[in-house]
Amino acid sequence: MSSKKNRQFTRREFLKATGAVTAAYAAMPLLSACGGGASSGGPVKLGILLPYSGIYAVLGESITEGMKMYFEEANNEAGGRKIELVTEDSEMTPPVAQQKASKLIEQDEVDLVAGIVSSGVLMGIRDYFDTNKKLLICANAGANAISRGAKTPYIWRTSFSNWQPCWPLGTWAYENVAQKVYVSVPDYGAGHNMADAFMNSFQAAGGEVLGTQYTPFPQMGDPAPFITDIQSADPPMVFCFYSGGAAVTFVKAYGEFGLSGNVPLVCAGFTVEEDVLPAQGDAALGASSGLHWALKLDNEENKKFTAAYKERTGKDANVFAVQGYDTGRVIVDMLNAVEGDTNTDKMIEALGGVSFNSPRGPFSLDANSQNPLQHIYVREVQEVDGALHNVVIKDLGPFADPGDDSKG
Ligand code: BEZ
Repeated sequence: MSSKKNRQFTRREFLKATGAVTAAYAAMPLLSACGGGASSGGPVKLGILLPYSGIYAVLGESITEGMKMYFEEANNEAGGRKIELVTEDSEMTPPVAQQKASKLIEQDEVDLVAGIVSSGVLMGIRDYFDTNKKLLICANAGANAISRGAKTPYIWRTSFSNWQPCWPLGTWAYENVAQKVYVSVPDYGAGHNMADAFMNSFQAAGGEVLGTQYTPFPQMGDPAPFITDIQSADPPMVFCFYSGGAAVTFVKAYGEFGLSGNVPLVCAGFTVEEDVLPAQGDAALGASSGLHWALKLDNEENKKFTAAYKERTGKDANVFAVQGYDTGRVIVDMLNAVEGDTNTDKMIEALGGVSFNSPRGPFSLDANSQNPLQHIYVREVQEVDGALHNVVIKDLGPFADPGDDSKG
């Protein structure tokens, strides 16, 4: 069941993974500088590129809802200009995302693009934005390489690098849960990034990895063989990362096979995040996880945000909605700083200075990794007022992506 392919996105690997379409688009710089006009006085056109279908559809919808919520709070304007959204479904495949990105930029003439959920899609469209010198603000996909070897001035992230929630968690798990672990992640870039980060700090602390499994992505299929492999290894603890539909499939199977409550589940927080907890039910109870936000995080911004989100949608907020909300704020702050001038170089320069108190705690964009400097929390799934939620049990402090592969 174990495989070591896709360990880390290298430039060669992502070009291969995304195929000829990438090469064709990357080789075609735009013929003219397009995009609204630096100070046309008309609306700033923002392209939103997110999955609204496939296993990450709920993530795309949550990010969109959070972003719209912030824009509405800002009266849908920034830097003296209205903000106009043009939305496209990236689906789950790099070629579709590339087509949609070029449609947004070349046909719709958006000034910048925000969105992207999957690391594979992010790596697939990276060259298009780099070659064409257009700004992409990534609101989820955590591919480490975007803050490291594949860094480009044209891609900044408001979410996390995949390393961020998992590396601090490895040390915490060794000290607080068990000294041996079995690792289960999906077989694509984000799964490998997260497993490597966790295992790196866990082993550095003295821990032993009993086994690793890389499950099919995006469709896991029947989870039974994977859970059976975990049972055969008889580990005292399991680390995993799953999200969206795959997180529901894996955690429910973990419960049905009798592992929940018996073999501690320690995971990247997306696995038991608020978007999937209602469907997972008691199978998730007691799971501990690392993430940059929690529904019950105790700060003023979070109280305000979670109450407003519930009022607006009828649902509890989740980390993807927070990332959407913060993406909206980053874009508004950036446009205010440049007084509505959407010249790409000026917008990029302004991003380095963005910092504010987010629902996730203190947030600033680290110019080295072009990714947030933010706190990582250990959360535990507990019953709160008759429902399951993530409660912070430890603040591990602020972390920035290291900007290289030295720490996994
Ligand atoms: C990713 O592909 O980078 C990713 C997807 C869902 C949750 C977290 C990371």
